[in-house]
Amino acid sequence: MRDLKPALDKRREDRLYRARRVAESAQGPEMVLDGERVITFCSNNYLGLAGDERIANALAEAARQWGAGSGAAHLVNGHARPHHELEDALAAFTGRERALLFSTGYMANLGVGTALLARGDCAFEDRLNHASLIDAGYRPHVGFQRYRHNDAADLDRRLARVESEEKLVLTDGVFSMDGDIAPLRDLAGVCGRHDARLAVDDAHGIGVLGEGGRGSVAAAGLSAAEVPVLVGTLGKAFGTAGAFVAGDNDLIETLIQSARTYIYTTATPPAVAAATLESLRIVEAADDRRARLTGLIDRFRAGIAELDAEPIDSRTPIQPLIVGSAERALAVSEALLAEGLLVTAIRPPTVPPNTARLRVTLSAAHEEAHVDRLLEALQRHLAGHAGSSVTL
Ligand SMILES: Cc1ncc(COP(=O)(O)O)c(C=O)c1O
Repeated sequence: MRDLKPALDKRREDRLYRARRVAESAQGPEMVLDGERVITFCSNNYLGLAGDERIANALAEAARQWGAGSGAAHLVNGHARPHHELEDALAAFTGRERALLFSTGYMANLGVGTALLARGDCAFEDRLNHASLIDAGYRPHVGFQRYRHNDAADLDRRLARVESEEKLVLTDGVFSMDGDIAPLRDLAGVCGRHDARLAVDDAHGIGVLGEGGRGSVAAAGLSAAEVPVLVGTLGKAFGTAGAFVAGDNDLIETLIQSARTYIYTTATPPAVAAATLESLRIVEAADDRRARLTGLIDRFRAGIAELDAEPIDSRTPIQPLIVGSAERALAVSEALLAEGLLVTAIRPPTVPPNTARLRVTLSAAHEEAHVDRLLEALQRHLAGHAGSSVTL
Protein backbone atom coordinates (compact mmCIF):
# COMPACT_ATOMS: atom_id res chain seq x y z
CA MET A 1 0.00 0.00 0.00
CA ARG A 2 1.35 3.47 -0.90
CA ASP A 3 2.06 5.89 1.93
CA LEU A 4 -0.17 8.88 1.18
CA LYS A 5 1.64 11.38 3.37
CA PRO A 6 4.67 12.23 1.18
CA ALA A 7 2.47 13.33 -1.73
CA LEU A 8 0.39 15.48 0.62
CA ASP A 9 3.54 17.00 2.11
CA LYS A 10 4.88 17.71 -1.35
CA ARG A 11 1.63 19.47 -2.28
CA ARG A 12 1.95 21.64 0.81
CA GLU A 13 5.57 22.44 -0.03
CA ASP A 14 4.58 23.37 -3.58
CA ARG A 15 1.84 25.59 -2.18
CA LEU A 16 -0.73 23.60 -4.13
CA TYR A 17 -2.57 22.23 -1.12
CA ARG A 18 -6.33 22.62 -1.35
CA ALA A 19 -8.34 23.40 1.77
CA ARG A 20 -11.95 24.21 2.53
CA ARG A 21 -13.55 27.10 4.37
CA VAL A 22 -16.70 26.69 6.42
CA ALA A 23 -19.53 29.07 5.48
CA GLU A 24 -21.62 30.22 8.38
CA SER A 25 -24.05 32.24 6.33
CA ALA A 26 -25.97 31.72 3.09
CA GLN A 27 -24.29 32.12 -0.30
CA GLY A 28 -24.03 35.78 -1.30
CA PRO A 29 -21.58 38.64 -1.89
CA GLU A 30 -21.21 39.16 1.88
CA MET A 31 -20.62 36.01 3.89
CA VAL A 32 -19.17 34.73 7.13
CA LEU A 33 -16.44 32.19 6.31
CA ASP A 34 -14.42 30.52 9.03
CA GLY A 35 -15.85 33.10 11.42
CA GLU A 36 -14.68 36.09 9.34
CA ARG A 37 -16.84 38.55 7.40
CA VAL A 38 -15.81 38.62 3.76
CA ILE A 39 -16.95 40.00 0.43
CA THR A 40 -16.82 37.12 -2.02
CA PHE A 41 -15.68 37.31 -5.64
CA CYS A 42 -15.47 33.61 -6.32
CA SER A 43 -18.90 32.01 -6.52
CA ASN A 44 -20.92 31.02 -9.59
CA ASN A 45 -24.02 32.68 -8.13
CA TYR A 46 -24.17 34.93 -11.19
CA LEU A 47 -27.74 36.16 -10.81
CA GLY A 48 -27.70 36.21 -7.01
CA LEU A 49 -30.38 33.51 -6.82
CA ALA A 50 -28.64 31.02 -4.48
CA GLY A 51 -29.99 32.85 -1.45
CA ASP A 52 -33.26 34.00 -3.09
CA GLU A 53 -36.17 33.81 -0.67
CA ARG A 54 -38.76 32.84 -3.31
CA ILE A 55 -36.68 29.84 -4.36
CA ALA A 56 -35.96 28.85 -0.76
CA ASN A 57 -39.70 29.03 -0.03
CA ALA A 58 -40.48 26.86 -3.07
CA LEU A 59 -37.92 24.35 -1.78
CA ALA A 60 -39.41 24.33 1.74
CA GLU A 61 -42.98 24.02 0.49
CA ALA A 62 -42.11 21.18 -1.87
CA ALA A 63 -40.13 19.42 0.87
CA ARG A 64 -43.28 19.39 3.01
CA GLN A 65 -45.17 17.67 0.18
CA TRP A 66 -42.44 15.44 -1.25
CA GLY A 67 -40.15 14.90 1.73
CA ALA A 68 -36.41 15.45 1.89
CA GLY A 69 -35.21 12.74 -0.44
CA SER A 70 -36.19 10.98 -3.66
CA GLY A 71 -35.42 7.57 -2.14
CA ALA A 72 -34.37 5.85 -5.38
CA ALA A 73 -32.86 6.24 -8.82
CA HIS A 74 -34.95 7.76 -11.62
CA LEU A 75 -35.34 4.38 -13.28
CA VAL A 76 -36.58 2.73 -10.09
CA ASN A 77 -39.21 4.88 -8.40
CA GLY A 78 -37.32 8.09 -7.66
CA HIS A 79 -38.55 10.05 -10.70
CA ALA A 80 -41.26 12.34 -9.34
CA ARG A 81 -43.70 14.80 -10.87
CA PRO A 82 -41.50 17.89 -10.13
CA HIS A 83 -38.55 16.24 -11.95
CA HIS A 84 -40.78 15.52 -14.92
CA GLU A 85 -42.25 19.02 -15.02
CA LEU A 86 -38.80 20.57 -14.74
CA GLU A 87 -37.53 18.46 -17.66
CA ASP A 88 -40.45 19.66 -19.80
CA ALA A 89 -39.85 23.27 -18.77
CA LEU A 90 -36.09 23.03 -19.53
CA ALA A 91 -36.82 21.49 -22.95
CA ALA A 92 -39.12 24.42 -23.74
CA PHE A 93 -36.57 26.92 -22.33
CA THR A 94 -33.75 25.58 -24.51
CA GLY A 95 -35.92 24.94 -27.58
CA ARG A 96 -35.05 21.23 -27.57
CA GLU A 97 -37.40 18.24 -27.90
CA ARG A 98 -36.53 16.96 -24.46
CA ALA A 99 -34.31 17.47 -21.44
CA LEU A 100 -33.00 15.01 -18.87
CA LEU A 101 -32.03 15.87 -15.30
CA PHE A 102 -28.77 14.74 -13.76
CA SER A 103 -27.67 15.18 -10.14
CA THR A 104 -24.65 17.35 -11.06
CA GLY A 105 -23.03 18.89 -14.11
CA TYR A 106 -20.07 16.60 -13.64
CA MET A 107 -22.36 13.60 -13.88
CA ALA A 108 -24.23 15.03 -16.88
CA ASN A 109 -20.99 15.34 -18.83
CA LEU A 110 -19.80 11.89 -17.81
CA GLY A 111 -23.19 10.51 -18.78
CA VAL A 112 -22.89 11.99 -22.26
CA GLY A 113 -19.46 10.35 -22.66
CA THR A 114 -20.51 6.94 -21.39
CA ALA A 115 -23.67 6.85 -23.49
CA LEU A 116 -22.31 8.19 -26.78
CA LEU A 117 -18.74 6.91 -27.01
CA ALA A 118 -18.15 3.26 -27.87
CA ARG A 119 -15.10 1.26 -28.94
CA GLY A 120 -13.44 2.83 -31.99
CA ASP A 121 -15.11 6.23 -31.58
CA CYS A 122 -13.21 9.45 -31.00
CA ALA A 123 -13.63 12.40 -28.63
CA PHE A 124 -12.32 15.86 -29.57
CA GLU A 125 -11.82 18.33 -26.74
CA ASP A 126 -10.84 21.96 -26.49
CA ARG A 127 -7.55 22.12 -24.55
CA LEU A 128 -9.12 24.30 -21.86
CA ASN A 129 -12.25 22.23 -21.33
CA HIS A 130 -13.54 21.73 -17.82
CA ALA A 131 -12.29 18.61 -16.03
CA SER A 132 -15.70 16.96 -16.26
CA LEU A 133 -15.70 17.23 -20.06
CA ILE A 134 -12.17 15.86 -20.22
CA ASP A 135 -13.19 12.94 -18.02
CA ALA A 136 -16.25 12.41 -20.24
CA GLY A 137 -14.01 11.89 -23.26
CA TYR A 138 -11.57 9.47 -21.59
CA ARG A 139 -13.23 6.15 -22.32
CA PRO A 140 -11.67 2.73 -22.83
CA HIS A 141 -10.84 2.00 -26.48
CA VAL A 142 -11.99 5.49 -27.53
CA GLY A 143 -9.70 7.92 -29.38
CA PHE A 144 -8.99 11.18 -27.57
CA GLN A 145 -7.74 14.41 -29.12
CA ARG A 146 -7.35 17.89 -27.71
CA TYR A 147 -7.53 20.76 -30.18
CA ARG A 148 -6.06 24.21 -29.62
CA HIS A 149 -8.19 26.49 -27.50
CA ASN A 150 -11.08 27.96 -29.49
CA ASP A 151 -9.36 26.97 -32.74
CA ALA A 152 -11.97 25.67 -35.18
CA ALA A 153 -9.33 25.26 -37.92
CA ASP A 154 -7.27 22.92 -35.71
CA LEU A 155 -10.43 20.95 -34.94
CA ASP A 156 -11.19 20.80 -38.67
CA ARG A 157 -7.77 19.30 -39.44
CA ARG A 158 -8.07 16.75 -36.65
CA LEU A 159 -11.57 15.68 -37.67
CA ALA A 160 -10.40 15.21 -41.25
CA ARG A 161 -7.67 12.80 -40.14
CA VAL A 162 -9.86 10.51 -38.05
CA GLU A 163 -12.14 7.80 -39.39
CA SER A 164 -14.72 6.73 -36.85
CA GLU A 165 -18.46 6.35 -36.82
CA GLU A 166 -18.95 8.70 -33.89
CA LYS A 167 -16.88 11.85 -33.62
CA LEU A 168 -17.94 13.68 -30.48
CA VAL A 169 -16.72 17.25 -30.11
CA LEU A 170 -16.93 18.59 -26.57
CA THR A 171 -16.52 22.22 -25.57
CA ASP A 172 -17.36 24.59 -22.76
CA GLY A 173 -19.76 27.34 -23.96
CA VAL A 174 -18.10 29.78 -21.54
CA PHE A 175 -14.69 28.59 -20.34
CA SER A 176 -14.71 28.15 -16.60
CA MET A 177 -11.20 29.40 -15.89
CA ASP A 178 -10.90 32.10 -18.57
CA GLY A 179 -14.48 33.33 -18.99
CA ASP A 180 -14.15 33.57 -22.77
CA ILE A 181 -16.87 32.26 -25.07
CA ALA A 182 -16.29 29.40 -27.51
CA PRO A 183 -16.59 30.25 -31.24
CA LEU A 184 -19.71 28.11 -31.41
CA ARG A 185 -20.76 29.10 -34.94
CA ASP A 186 -17.38 28.08 -36.35
CA LEU A 187 -17.28 24.87 -34.33
CA ALA A 188 -20.80 23.94 -35.44
CA GLY A 189 -19.84 24.60 -39.07
CA VAL A 190 -16.77 22.35 -38.82
CA CYS A 191 -18.77 19.62 -37.07
CA GLY A 192 -21.43 19.80 -39.78
CA ARG A 193 -18.81 19.26 -42.51
CA HIS A 194 -17.38 16.17 -40.78
CA ASP A 195 -20.64 14.61 -39.56
CA ALA A 196 -19.40 15.14 -35.99
CA ARG A 197 -21.69 15.63 -33.01
CA LEU A 198 -21.18 18.88 -31.09
CA ALA A 199 -21.75 18.84 -27.32
CA VAL A 200 -21.70 22.23 -25.57
CA ASP A 201 -21.43 22.46 -21.80
CA ASP A 202 -23.01 25.82 -21.03
CA ALA A 203 -22.55 25.64 -17.26
CA HIS A 204 -21.45 29.28 -17.09
CA GLY A 205 -23.56 30.67 -19.93
CA ILE A 206 -27.03 29.40 -19.17
CA GLY A 207 -29.06 31.96 -17.26
CA VAL A 208 -26.51 34.66 -18.00
CA LEU A 209 -26.11 35.01 -21.78
CA GLY A 210 -28.64 35.23 -24.59
CA GLU A 211 -32.26 36.27 -24.66
CA GLY A 212 -34.05 35.27 -21.46
CA GLY A 213 -30.78 33.70 -20.25
CA ARG A 214 -30.99 30.89 -22.80
CA GLY A 215 -27.23 30.72 -22.89
CA SER A 216 -24.29 30.89 -25.27
CA VAL A 217 -25.77 28.51 -27.84
CA ALA A 218 -28.95 30.59 -28.15
CA ALA A 219 -26.84 33.77 -28.20
CA ALA A 220 -24.92 32.33 -31.17
CA GLY A 221 -28.25 31.61 -32.89
CA LEU A 222 -27.54 27.90 -33.22
CA SER A 223 -30.28 25.33 -33.74
CA ALA A 224 -30.79 21.96 -32.06
CA ALA A 225 -29.47 20.33 -35.25
CA GLU A 226 -26.25 22.34 -35.06
CA VAL A 227 -25.72 21.71 -31.33
CA PRO A 228 -27.36 18.33 -30.74
CA VAL A 229 -26.09 17.98 -27.16
CA LEU A 230 -26.60 20.90 -24.79
CA VAL A 231 -25.59 20.61 -21.15
CA GLY A 232 -26.71 23.14 -18.56
CA THR A 233 -26.03 23.24 -14.84
CA LEU A 234 -28.46 24.42 -12.20
CA GLY A 235 -26.07 25.14 -9.34
CA LYS A 236 -24.67 28.34 -10.84
CA ALA A 237 -26.94 31.07 -12.31
CA PHE A 238 -30.05 29.09 -11.33
CA GLY A 239 -28.96 29.06 -7.69
CA THR A 240 -30.13 25.51 -6.89
CA ALA A 241 -28.39 22.22 -7.77
CA GLY A 242 -28.19 19.61 -10.50
CA ALA A 243 -27.86 19.73 -14.26
CA PHE A 244 -29.57 18.72 -17.46
CA VAL A 245 -28.85 17.52 -20.97
CA ALA A 246 -31.18 18.84 -23.68
CA GLY A 247 -31.54 17.38 -27.16
CA ASP A 248 -33.76 15.31 -29.38
CA ASN A 249 -35.81 12.33 -28.31
CA ASP A 250 -33.26 9.74 -29.49
CA LEU A 251 -30.45 11.42 -27.55
CA ILE A 252 -32.47 11.56 -24.34
CA GLU A 253 -33.65 7.95 -24.69
CA THR A 254 -30.04 6.87 -25.32
CA LEU A 255 -28.95 8.64 -22.14
CA ILE A 256 -31.77 7.03 -20.14
CA GLN A 257 -30.76 3.59 -21.45
CA SER A 258 -27.00 3.88 -21.08
CA ALA A 259 -25.66 6.92 -19.21
CA ARG A 260 -24.16 5.27 -16.15
CA THR A 261 -24.23 8.47 -14.09
CA TYR A 262 -27.97 8.68 -14.76
CA ILE A 263 -28.84 5.07 -14.11
CA TYR A 264 -26.76 4.14 -11.09
CA THR A 265 -27.49 7.01 -8.74
CA THR A 266 -30.25 8.36 -6.53
CA ALA A 267 -32.42 11.05 -8.12
CA THR A 268 -32.04 14.55 -6.66
CA PRO A 269 -34.73 15.39 -4.12
CA PRO A 270 -38.00 16.32 -5.87
CA ALA A 271 -38.10 19.48 -3.75
CA VAL A 272 -34.89 20.67 -5.44
CA ALA A 273 -36.56 20.18 -8.83
CA ALA A 274 -39.58 22.17 -7.60
CA ALA A 275 -37.26 24.94 -6.41
CA THR A 276 -35.53 24.96 -9.79
CA LEU A 277 -38.89 25.36 -11.52
CA GLU A 278 -39.37 28.55 -9.51
CA SER A 279 -35.80 29.56 -10.33
CA LEU A 280 -36.37 28.99 -14.05
CA ARG A 281 -39.40 31.28 -13.92
CA ILE A 282 -37.24 33.97 -12.29
CA VAL A 283 -34.25 33.44 -14.64
CA GLU A 284 -36.36 33.88 -17.77
CA ALA A 285 -37.67 37.22 -16.53
CA ALA A 286 -34.36 38.40 -15.04
CA ASP A 287 -33.28 40.89 -17.73
CA ASP A 288 -32.82 43.46 -14.97
CA ARG A 289 -30.35 41.20 -13.15
CA ARG A 290 -28.50 40.43 -16.39
CA ALA A 291 -28.27 44.15 -17.19
CA ARG A 292 -26.99 44.87 -13.69
CA LEU A 293 -24.38 42.14 -14.04
CA THR A 294 -23.23 43.59 -17.38
CA GLY A 295 -22.88 46.99 -15.69
CA LEU A 296 -20.70 45.49 -12.95
CA ILE A 297 -18.55 43.63 -15.50
CA ASP A 298 -18.02 46.88 -17.43
CA ARG A 299 -17.12 48.71 -14.20
CA PHE A 300 -14.58 46.04 -13.25
CA ARG A 301 -13.03 45.94 -16.71
CA ALA A 302 -12.70 49.71 -16.82
CA GLY A 303 -10.73 49.52 -13.55
CA ILE A 304 -8.35 46.67 -14.36
CA ALA A 305 -6.59 48.43 -17.22
CA GLU A 306 -4.39 50.11 -14.60
CA LEU A 307 -3.34 46.93 -12.82
CA ASP A 308 -0.06 45.04 -13.00
CA ALA A 309 -1.73 41.90 -14.31
CA GLU A 310 -2.87 40.48 -17.64
CA PRO A 311 -6.65 40.55 -18.02
CA ILE A 312 -8.31 38.03 -20.30
CA ASP A 313 -10.68 39.23 -22.98
CA SER A 314 -13.86 38.09 -21.27
CA ARG A 315 -17.32 39.63 -21.46
CA THR A 316 -18.76 37.21 -18.93
CA PRO A 317 -18.92 37.35 -15.11
CA ILE A 318 -15.69 35.28 -15.01
CA GLN A 319 -12.91 37.89 -15.03
CA PRO A 320 -9.51 36.30 -14.46
CA LEU A 321 -6.36 38.32 -13.95
CA ILE A 322 -3.23 36.42 -14.90
CA VAL A 323 -0.47 37.26 -12.44
CA GLY A 324 2.22 34.72 -13.38
CA SER A 325 3.61 32.46 -10.69
CA ALA A 326 1.58 30.40 -8.23
CA GLU A 327 3.42 32.21 -5.40
CA ARG A 328 2.35 35.65 -6.59
CA ALA A 329 -1.26 34.54 -7.09
CA LEU A 330 -1.33 33.09 -3.58
CA ALA A 331 0.35 36.08 -1.98
CA VAL A 332 -2.10 38.55 -3.50
CA SER A 333 -5.08 36.31 -2.74
CA GLU A 334 -3.94 36.06 0.91
CA ALA A 335 -3.40 39.82 1.16
CA LEU A 336 -6.89 40.44 -0.21
CA LEU A 337 -8.36 37.98 2.27
CA ALA A 338 -6.65 39.77 5.14
CA GLU A 339 -8.78 42.77 4.11
CA GLY A 340 -11.94 40.69 3.87
CA LEU A 341 -11.97 40.19 0.09
CA LEU A 342 -12.21 36.59 -1.10
CA VAL A 343 -10.72 35.99 -4.55
CA THR A 344 -9.52 32.51 -5.45
CA ALA A 345 -6.00 31.91 -6.70
CA ILE A 346 -6.09 29.33 -9.49
CA ARG A 347 -2.77 27.59 -9.90
CA PRO A 348 -1.21 24.88 -12.01
CA PRO A 349 -2.12 22.12 -12.71
CA THR A 350 -5.64 23.58 -13.03
CA VAL A 351 -4.15 26.16 -15.44
CA PRO A 352 -0.92 26.02 -17.50
CA PRO A 353 2.42 26.81 -15.78
CA ASN A 354 3.16 30.50 -15.20
CA THR A 355 -0.44 31.53 -15.85
CA ALA A 356 -1.61 31.39 -12.24
CA ARG A 357 -4.46 33.76 -11.86
CA LEU A 358 -6.83 35.53 -9.59
CA ARG A 359 -10.20 34.35 -10.75
CA VAL A 360 -12.67 37.11 -10.01
CA THR A 361 -16.31 36.28 -10.54
CA LEU A 362 -19.09 38.81 -10.35
CA SER A 363 -22.73 38.48 -9.39
CA ALA A 364 -25.77 40.65 -9.99
CA ALA A 365 -26.01 40.72 -6.18
CA HIS A 366 -22.73 42.65 -5.87
CA GLU A 367 -22.90 46.37 -5.23
CA GLU A 368 -20.82 48.89 -7.15
CA ALA A 369 -19.01 49.65 -3.88
CA HIS A 370 -17.90 45.99 -3.64
CA VAL A 371 -16.29 46.19 -7.08
CA ASP A 372 -14.63 49.52 -6.32
CA ARG A 373 -13.20 48.18 -3.08
CA LEU A 374 -11.77 45.16 -4.88
CA LEU A 375 -10.19 47.31 -7.60
CA GLU A 376 -8.57 49.59 -5.05
CA ALA A 377 -7.17 46.64 -3.07
CA LEU A 378 -5.94 44.90 -6.23
CA GLN A 379 -4.09 48.04 -7.23
CA ARG A 380 -2.19 48.09 -3.93
CA HIS A 381 -1.47 44.39 -3.58
CA LEU A 382 -0.45 43.71 -7.16
CA ALA A 383 2.03 46.57 -6.87
CA GLY A 384 3.15 45.27 -3.48
CA HIS A 385 3.80 41.80 -4.88
CA ALA A 386 5.40 42.89 -8.10
CA GLY A 387 8.18 41.07 -9.91
CA SER A 388 5.55 40.65 -12.57
CA SER A 389 6.38 37.23 -13.88
CA VAL A 390 3.60 37.25 -16.41
CA THR A 391 4.87 35.61 -19.52
CA LEU A 392 2.14 34.16 -21.68
C1 LIG B 1 -17.86 24.06 -17.35
C2 LIG B 1 -18.35 23.27 -16.19
N1 LIG B 1 -19.03 22.14 -16.42
C3 LIG B 1 -19.49 21.38 -15.42
C4 LIG B 1 -19.27 21.74 -14.09
C5 LIG B 1 -19.77 20.84 -13.03
O1 LIG B 1 -21.06 21.20 -12.65
P1 LIG B 1 -21.57 20.75 -11.22
O2 LIG B 1 -20.96 21.68 -10.24
O3 LIG B 1 -23.05 20.86 -11.30
O4 LIG B 1 -21.11 19.35 -11.04
C6 LIG B 1 -18.57 22.92 -13.82
C7 LIG B 1 -18.29 23.40 -12.45
O5 LIG B 1 -18.76 23.07 -11.44
C8 LIG B 1 -18.10 23.70 -14.88
O6 LIG B 1 -17.40 24.81 -14.64
